[in-house]
Amino acid sequence: MSDAAITRRKADHIAIAASGEADFHRPTLLDDVHLIHCALPERALADVDLSTHFLGRSFRAPLMVTGMTGGTPEAGELNRALAAAAETAGIPFGLGSQRAMVEHPELASTYDVRASAPDVFLCANFGVIQLAQMSFGAVREAVKRVGADAVCVHLNAAQELAQPGGDRDFSGGLEAIRALHGELGLPILVKETGCGVSPAVGRALAAAGVRAIDVSGGGGTSWPAVESRRAHGDEAELGRDLWDWGIPTAPAVAWLAAAEPRLEIVASGGIRNGLDAARALALGARMAGVAQLAMRAVREGGREGALSYLSRVIDGIRAATLLAGVATSADLARAPRVITGELRDWLAQRPA
Ligand code: FNR
Repeated sequence: MSDAAITRRKADHIAIAASGEADFHRPTLLDDVHLIHCALPERALADVDLSTHFLGRSFRAPLMVTGMTGGTPEAGELNRALAAAAETAGIPFGLGSQRAMVEHPELASTYDVRASAPDVFLCANFGVIQLAQMSFGAVREAVKRVGADAVCVHLNAAQELAQPGGDRDFSGGLEAIRALHGELGLPILVKETGCGVSPAVGRALAAAGVRAIDVSGGGGTSWPAVESRRAHGDEAELGRDLWDWGIPTAPAVAWLAAAEPRLEIVASGGIRNGLDAARALALGARMAGVAQLAMRAVREGGREGALSYLSRVIDGIRAATLLAGVATSADLARAPRVITGELRDWLAQRPA
C-alpha cells in the first residue's frame, strides 16, 4: 500500500471510530452487573488501593489505553499526547498496529513516544496475520525501535473480512503466537479488537504460553462497522451485516475468567467510565482498557484532555470500589453483586 493510501486509511479509521458512528448497536452487558451498595464503607476514599500488578509490573490503577494508531503525522501527535497522559496517570499505553512502519520504515517516527513519555509502560502492536509473515528479527527490530516493554498481538478477523482487500486467510495465527512466545523476552498480550475472545480460544492461547488476553468484546467500537462506513456500494454490505458480531464484553470477561483463572484479563470494548471498569473487574478482569473515548478526549483536548478523561475513569473506579465496600480494586472480584437480564442468560450458557 502506498504512503498516501496508508495516510487516508489511518485518517478514516480515527475519524470514523472516534465519532461514535461505528459503535455497536448492542450493549456490553456491563449494565447487568450490579455491585451491591455498602452504606457504611468505613474507610477514606484516599485509602482505597487501586494499585495493580499486570504483565510483571505494578501500575497505579487497573486501567490501560489500548492500541490505536501510528503511521501518519496526526497519528504520531495523538500517540505522543496519549502516551504522556498515560505516563502521568501511571498506566500502560498501547501503540496502534506497526504494520505501516514495518512496510514503510520512514513512518517509524509516528510511533516514537519515548521523547514525550520516557517511562510509560509501552506496548508494541502487530496483527496476528502480519506476525505470521514476519521474521523474528523484523519483529525484534520493530519492537526495539519504539522501545516497547510488551508486545500486543491483535486479532481482527471480522474487520479484515469487512474490509475490501482485507486478509482472507487466517491460518497459522496460533502457531505464530506460540512461536513468538519466549523469542522476545517481553510479555505478550493478545487482544481482540471488539469481537471478544471465547473460552476455547482463550484456552488455546493459554496452552500456547500466553499469560494475558484483552478480550476486547462487543459493545463499543465495531470494526466491521468502521469498514462498512469506509466502503462503497455492495462492498459496504458485509460490514453492515457483521456490525454487531461478537461476544459482548461482560460475558467475554466472565467466561474467560472461569475457563482460565490464571490469565491476566483486560476488559476493553465499550468501557465508558469508572463504573464500567469496576463492573468488569468484578467479573474477573485484572485491568480495564479504553480506546475510542481516550481517542476522542485527546483529539478534543490534547494531552490535558486525555489526562482529564483517564483521571475521571480512575476516580470512578475508586468511588465504585469504596461504595462496593471493599478496600482494593482487586477485591472487586469478590464484592457482592447481582447479575440480571441478558448477561444472566450468557453466563448460564457458557460454552465448553
Ligand atoms: C483501534 N483498535 C486497534 N487495536 C489494535 O490492536 N491495533 C490497532 O491498530 C487498533 N486501531 C484502532 C484505532 C482506533 C481509532 C480505535 C478507536 C481502536 C482497537 C482498540 O484497541 C479496542 O480493542 C477496540 O476499539 C474496543 O475498545 P473501545 O474503542 O470500544 O474502547
